Amino acid sequence: MHTIAVLPGDGIGEEVVREALRVLEAVSSVTGFKYKLEHYPYGAEHYLKTGEGFPDSALREMRDHSAILMGAIGDPRVETGLLERAIIAGIRFGLDLYVNLRPIKLYAEHLCPLKGVTKDQLDLVVVRENTEGAYVGVGGIMKRGSESEVAVCNMVWTRAGTERVIRYAFDLARQRGKEKRVTLVDKANAIRPMDLWTRAFGEVAKEYPDLTTDHAYIDAACMWMVKNPDWFDVVVTDNLFGDIITDLGAMLQGGLGIAASGNIHPGKVSMFEPIHGSAPKYKGKNVACPVACVMAVQMMLDYLGDREGATLVESAVANALRTKKIASLQAGEVPTDKAGEILVGEIKDLAPAAG
Ligand code: IPM
Ligand code: MN
Repeated sequence: MHTIAVLPGDGIGEEVVREALRVLEAVSSVTGFKYKLEHYPYGAEHYLKTGEGFPDSALREMRDHSAILMGAIGDPRVETGLLERAIIAGIRFGLDLYVNLRPIKLYAEHLCPLKGVTKDQLDLVVVRENTEGAYVGVGGIMKRGSESEVAVCNMVWTRAGTERVIRYAFDLARQRGKEKRVTLVDKANAIRPMDLWTRAFGEVAKEYPDLTTDHAYIDAACMWMVKNPDWFDVVVTDNLFGDIITDLGAMLQGGLGIAASGNIHPGKVSMFEPIHGSAPKYKGKNVACPVACVMAVQMMLDYLGDREGATLVESAVANALRTKKIASLQAGEVPTDKAGEILVGEIKDLAPAAG
């Protein structure tokens, strides 16, 4: 029995999580995936009512679950970044979820804004380092608001932290068995301390003689991703660069409405979430696209060992998109609840007759 902590969070979080859970239920009735949900209220509403962001006790409870499913965090009524740092970063750092896995895959050609890109030309995974870099919070502001104000933000990389995420990327490339290529994306020409990444990558690569390695600076990687997305198989990169390039990647797949991520510490409780934000303007309007959250469930099933369930969800999404039952991933294309219904229907159609 898997126990899943559910944190719908803010804005459209609740609606997309609701549909994703409907899909999970449909899958479980086919594959026999056994689970129990535990809902947590953290987010803006809870914070405004109680003053509580994300207490230590909640983090401790998270450790007792098999996985965490998150909706979205962020609300204009609360100071920018406060809840994002408390909850999202709180979980990523607190549970040491050092891999942020972000697949970028084209399921239907008409969804890609680039001309003539076929499905097999856009199928890569970004492995974003998730516990270091500019996100560590080393820095601050001095003499705030004065003419002599100073802001400092340090990017921090440890050899151990860099090496473990690079090793994960190599293992993943081997397991995908596709082109077996790992591309390091950094900015070691301008940011010389990133030489630590260059060296760690070079040394880990020696342990994987069956894999091909490649390298691109982050600026060029953005260009290549648009110009020749088929050059990438597995990309490994720093936290901030990975954040940026995966929004670009999401657009190539058809939009933030489909892009999902897994915040993973192999073998431990991990967190799955859409990469989109809380889109406050769409809250409660039943227009948000739930596919990204559904794909987060897909990644969670895969992580928890229900490969059949994961494949089922992926095929259901692919079919709904290909047949244009869900014609685009934009908000308002299909009502949120209707999209969930369509995906549940696809799962039923795909299920073996006995299921
Ligand atoms: C993401 C988000 C977060 C990040 C924000 C909400 C803190 O953009 O998951 O990509 O920057 O990591
Ligand atoms: Mn982001």
